[in-house]
Amino acid sequence: MSAIRLDGQAVAARIKMQLADRAARLAAAGRPVGLGTILVGDDPASAAYVAMKHADCAEVGVTSFHEHLAANATQDELEAVIGRMNADPRVHAILVQLPLPAGLDEERALRAVDPDKDVDGLHPVNLGRLVMGRPTVVACTPAGIVELLAAYDVPVEGRHVVIIGRGLTIGRPLALLLASKRPGCNAAVTVVHTGVADLGALTRQGDVIVAAAGRAGLVAPDMVRPGAAVVAAGTSWAGRKLLSDVDESVADVAGWLSPRIGGVGPMTRAMLVRNAVTAAERVR
Ligand code: GUN
Repeated sequence: MSAIRLDGQAVAARIKMQLADRAARLAAAGRPVGLGTILVGDDPASAAYVAMKHADCAEVGVTSFHEHLAANATQDELEAVIGRMNADPRVHAILVQLPLPAGLDEERALRAVDPDKDVDGLHPVNLGRLVMGRPTVVACTPAGIVELLAAYDVPVEGRHVVIIGRGLTIGRPLALLLASKRPGCNAAVTVVHTGVADLGALTRQGDVIVAAAGRAGLVAPDMVRPGAAVVAAGTSWAGRKLLSDVDESVADVAGWLSPRIGGVGPMTRAMLVRNAVTAAERVR
């Protein structure tokens, strides 16, 4: 079998076209959408991700307000920048690029963002709303994965989704989202991690497998039930090469597979822009 490619690039392009209409309506009403981005330090991968987010915003007609702090910036300096963006009416949504350099407290930084401007859905208030089943803003990668599966009519409702990874940005919010009572979700969800004994025995039970562990090549063909959908969300770096959690030969057994590049990444960024536009629409 050769898996159907879950083309996130194509799906994201369609979503961004719709977002451009919404952003244009706001701009015509004198309320152009603004996204504030904060990058601390000089990690080349993080800088590249932020640059791609700016490009997506420009495509949709969302203005970016960028602040770049030195790697040795203090927590107070970072929170002062966040505070200024919280108070700036031109900024409707704020992104603090993670990971932050060692010595900075990510949780404190995320908590400093006004929950109404939290484009990542990672503020405790927004995570709490997700736990309660009434999210206003959902973390971008989980939201993007659900949209990607829906775009290809991959059966999810009533099916078993196995998520490998329990991180703050993907695994944990994705598990809550997929288990919630809403279209495209309503799944039976199992969360596992790389330390689980006989991981393959669990992943083989999945109708959908989401790999979000950040361990290159973790998911091998023998861990996938033939015909299952496999979403490659986790990545890691070997020098300058971006590696996927999913071995390419999984395409021989899976029914659907997201590619290493042009799969989940563009969907995450489309959801970021969507969250920014939605935040701007909410402002009265
Ligand atoms: N770094 C990697 N993924 C993410 C994400 O979803 N949000 C933020 N802010 N930083 C990230």
